[in-house]
Amino acid sequence: MSIKTVGVLGCGLMGAGIAQVAAASGYKTIVREMNQAVLDKGLGRIRKFLDDGVTKGKVPAEQRDHTLANLSGTTDVSALASCDLVIEAIVEHIDDKVAAYAAVESVVGSHTLIVSNTSSLCVTELAAKTKRPDRFGGLHFFNPVPLMKLVEVVRALTTSDETYRALFSFAQSLGKEPITAPDKPGFIVNRLLVPYLLDAIRCYERGLGSVADIDNGMKLGCGHPMGPLTLLDFVGLDTTYFIANIMFDEYKDPMFAAPPLLKRMVLAGRLGRKSGEGFYKY
Ligand code: CAA
Ligand code: NAD
Repeated sequence: MSIKTVGVLGCGLMGAGIAQVAAASGYKTIVREMNQAVLDKGLGRIRKFLDDGVTKGKVPAEQRDHTLANLSGTTDVSALASCDLVIEAIVEHIDDKVAAYAAVESVVGSHTLIVSNTSSLCVTELAAKTKRPDRFGGLHFFNPVPLMKLVEVVRALTTSDETYRALFSFAQSLGKEPITAPDKPGFIVNRLLVPYLLDAIRCYERGLGSVADIDNGMKLGCGHPMGPLTLLDFVGLDTTYFIANIMFDEYKDPMFAAPPLLKRMVLAGRLGRKSGEGFYKY
């Protein structure tokens, strides 16, 4: 299976990072958003990251230019017609994802692989909603995508051996270190991380400490790069809320239940960095 052209659905937090690393690794990359304003914002974030990298001496200017030359944006799904692989990184809602796959399948060839960057949905269920359950899988990237080395490669029950091998090699070709994760909610990392993050909110709700003290406790006492409440703002409280509900729905274990404060912050539009306010103001 030869992958030359990569499509990315969504140019939000994750889609922008995935499109950036695909383009940087030499793939012709086309990223699709819902409207021009959101697309411009996402492409602007990629440019800023690359420019900052040049300023910091981490990215040679030629590498930035090469990445941007491989990258294009569109709001038109038919622009993905030539893609060999389409990576979906849109909102964590099954109905939106399924509708997006139908739109992609109406324009791409039969050889095209489709993968989801879902954090928590059942990959077998997503695969079963397409006409190519054998050419479908999960590639779960981590935020911020250009800096985090891990990708979880998730096989649906229907994913063929050939597709699985192609996805694993593709992740390696991006300079990532893939691991194989089971198609269980949260895979490996979120199965461990999400209960911890939700528990941090519960502890804060119950007065264990201030936002800063809880974060500094885990940062300075345990060497975590970010405290849990900072990390929640970074991931997005809306995304965390969707993930918690999906995981609770599957496991029925209270450790995955969304704390009341999380629900209220999402309803109030306090989504973290992306909205300018979460546990902190930005
Ligand atoms: N271009 C190139 N390199 C850059 C860069 C840029 N624009 N910006 C930063 N870097 C490099 C830095 O030079 C530095 O490199 P060295 O280690 O070689 O010095 C490195 O990236 C780290 O950057 P900074 O020093 O500026 O920033 P930091 O030390 O504060 O680290 C961070 C930032 C990597 C995000 C760190 O805070 C971190 O790891 N946080 C935790 C992130 C995390 O847990 N992510 C997972 C979230 S869960 C998820 O994604 C799954 C899900 O489904 C929800
Ligand atoms: P986000 O809200 O930052 O971005 C989602 C983007 O998708 C939005 O810009 C939206 O306009 C766009 N979109 C919605 N429907 C679309 C469609 N049909 N076609 C094209 N674009 C569409 O969300 P995010 O944080 O990037 O999360 C995206 C996915 O990645 C989710 O499944 C999430 O669970 C997963 N994920 C998130 C993180 C994280 O840390 N935030 C980490 C790993 C995986």
